[in-house]
Amino acid sequence: MSAEQLKEYLNTAIAIAKEVGPAFKDGFWRTGRFSADSAFAADDKLGNGADCVTEVDRYIEKTVFSRLREIYPTHKLVGEETTTECGNEYKVTNDPTWIVDPVDGTNNFVHHFQYTGISIGLAINKEPVVGVVYLPILDELYTAAHGQGAFMNGQPLPIIRPPVLTTPTSLAECSMVCEHGSDRSEKVMGSRLASFTRLLLDKKHGGGCIQNLRVLGAACPDITLVAKGVAECYWEIGPHAWDFAAAVIILTESGGAVFDGAGWWGSSIPESERTLKPHNIWNRRLIAVRFIPDLPGKPGSGRELQKQLAKDVLEIVEDIPYPPDGIH
Ligand code: IPD
Repeated sequence: MSAEQLKEYLNTAIAIAKEVGPAFKDGFWRTGRFSADSAFAADDKLGNGADCVTEVDRYIEKTVFSRLREIYPTHKLVGEETTTECGNEYKVTNDPTWIVDPVDGTNNFVHHFQYTGISIGLAINKEPVVGVVYLPILDELYTAAHGQGAFMNGQPLPIIRPPVLTTPTSLAECSMVCEHGSDRSEKVMGSRLASFTRLLLDKKHGGGCIQNLRVLGAACPDITLVAKGVAECYWEIGPHAWDFAAAVIILTESGGAVFDGAGWWGSSIPESERTLKPHNIWNRRLIAVRFIPDLPGKPGSGRELQKQLAKDVLEIVEDIPYPPDGIH
C-alpha cells in the first residue's frame, strides 16, 4: 500500500468525521435535528443500563457507512451499532475494512460529559493502518496513517515532548487510564476492581503503586491521552475492534507501544513463559504505553522501558477471557 493511498484514505476519514461533527454536537446539546427527547432516548444494549445506544449513534454510523460505501464500494464495513443489530457473525478478512464507533463513550454523551467522540479506523490485513478520533465537543481531532506520524489538530503527537516528557522507569512514576467497562457481572467486576486495587496498592503489599488511576468513560479518548503524553499507560479488557482500531494506530504512530492485554495474575502460565504478545485489535484487550524518551547515552532504552512497564502491569492484572470479535 503506497503512502499516497494511505494519505487519501486518511483524508477521506477526516472529511467524513468532520461532516458528522455537527450532528454529534446537536445530539450532545439536544439541538437541531436531535432536539426532540425521543431522538435522544438511550436504548439499553446489555440490559443492565450501562451500555446504551442513542438515535445519534445510529444516525452517525449510517451516514459514515453510506459515505464510505459511495467512495470505496468494495471495502468491508464493521460498526458498533450495525454489529449490535446484526450480531458478531461477520467474517474478519484481510480486505480493507473500515471500523467505526459513531459515539465512543455513549454514557458520557448522554450525561453531557465532553469526553466522547467519533472513531473511524481502517484495517488492512487485519491491522490498523489509518485512524481518526474526533472529539467534537473538546474540538480535538486526532489523525494517523501508518508510517506518517500522528497528530492532534495538526500538531505532532506526543504533544508533551522531551525534555518536558519524562522517562518513567517504574509503575510508581506512571499515571494510568483504565475503564470499568459495561459488563457488570459479579465475576467480571470483581476481577477488574481487584486489578485496579493491585495497580494502586503500595509496593510493599505487592502492588504497582501507580500515581493515578483515571476512569473517564471512553476508550478511544483514553488512548489519545496516552498518545498525547499526559498518561503513561492504558489497560482494558472488554472493548471491541471499533474502540481500538483508530486509536491504536494513532498511539503507535506517536511512538507508543501496544501489546495484548491479557494479565498474568493468578494464571498458571509459568514465569519463564510470561512474554509480551503482539496486540490484535479483534481480541478485546490492550495494554498501551506512551512514547518514552531514551535514557541519556542509552539508545533503545525507551523501547525497553515500554516493554518493562507493560510487563509490570500484566503481572498484577487479571485476564478476563472474552471471545474475539468476528469470525476468524
Ligand atoms: C465503551 C467505552 C467504555 C469502555 C467500553 C466501550 P461505547 O464504548 O469506550 O469506556 O469501557 O469497553 O465499549 O459503548 O460507549 O461506544
